[in-house]
Amino acid sequence: MDKKIDQIKKEIKCFHMKTYNDLEIFRIKFLGKKKGILTILFKELKEVSIQKRKIYGKIINELKKEVQNKIKIFYSKNEIHNNNEKILKFDPTIPGKSIEIGSRHPLSIIKNKIIDLFMKIGFTYVDGPEIEDDWHNFTALNIPIFHPSRDMQDTFFLCKNPDILLRTHTSSVQIRYMKKHSPPFRVLSIGKVYRNETISSRSNFMFHQAEGFYIDRKVSFSDLKQTIYYLINSLFGEAKIRFRPSYFPFTEPSAEVDIYCDSGWIEIMGCGMIDPQVLKNVNIDSELYSGFAFGLGIERLSLIIYQMKDIRIYFDNDIRFLKQFKSEF
Ligand code: DAH
Repeated sequence: MDKKIDQIKKEIKCFHMKTYNDLEIFRIKFLGKKKGILTILFKELKEVSIQKRKIYGKIINELKKEVQNKIKIFYSKNEIHNNNEKILKFDPTIPGKSIEIGSRHPLSIIKNKIIDLFMKIGFTYVDGPEIEDDWHNFTALNIPIFHPSRDMQDTFFLCKNPDILLRTHTSSVQIRYMKKHSPPFRVLSIGKVYRNETISSRSNFMFHQAEGFYIDRKVSFSDLKQTIYYLINSLFGEAKIRFRPSYFPFTEPSAEVDIYCDSGWIEIMGCGMIDPQVLKNVNIDSELYSGFAFGLGIERLSLIIYQMKDIRIYFDNDIRFLKQFKSEF
């Protein structure tokens, strides 16, 4: 036993450590929970007579202290060394690294501007899920079963029966909100929508829509018109716009709004008075309440605002293009 102890003592003394990895090997070699040399000796003590146990116990404890001391010394030396190294490397004459400040994505700028405009006239902003079920995206909005937009060719279905899909428009947010809240309310929502369309300069499989709706007693088409005028005039100054009669299953009457540009009339949004059937679908009394709704394509609008010709550029992530947009929003 004495020989063994001398041998261990030597080994502790002579163990050379350079790195933290060596330190860990050293620690495990002597104090490792299962196979540490000292750990095993402590275990073996049980088999020795009580008298010897006291003596050897003391000796092994001293060895343990030696190991711990060596570890402590290593730490203190290395910490000092590291700090010195850091201090030596610090050169106050080197100019600071410049931090590049990003810019908002052009579509986010328009989104935030629209949100700001609608907050000013008392609208609440809400988000809705991009993954929808058939009822919220189609059925509750009065879109008949045979409607072409329900076709597999137009909609990305995640599964059939039950039908789960990527929302094709933000109008589903109307249903989600109206089911949970009682009128009156004015709500705006902006987000991504998905359609199975070929990518071109004017269309993509994903784009952004803004959806607004207002329900109260006696809301009329003139309220809708004034709200649209307010939006367009705030975005474009005095712009020439027209309301063109149209059809949407969830509004009656319905209209499309066109804005006049150098190249002629450009359609930018759909709108109308919410169909009483839609109100019934979400248990709102259609005798008492009426409302308007509108849906607006953000990319479409951006082409006019930024005078762009191709929407694909928004998704190329070319920083040279993106960083040109500065905004207070
Ligand atoms: N959801 C329609 C679309 O994606 C746009 C739209 C039209 C929304 C009329 C509305 C509305 O809220 O009233 O083409």
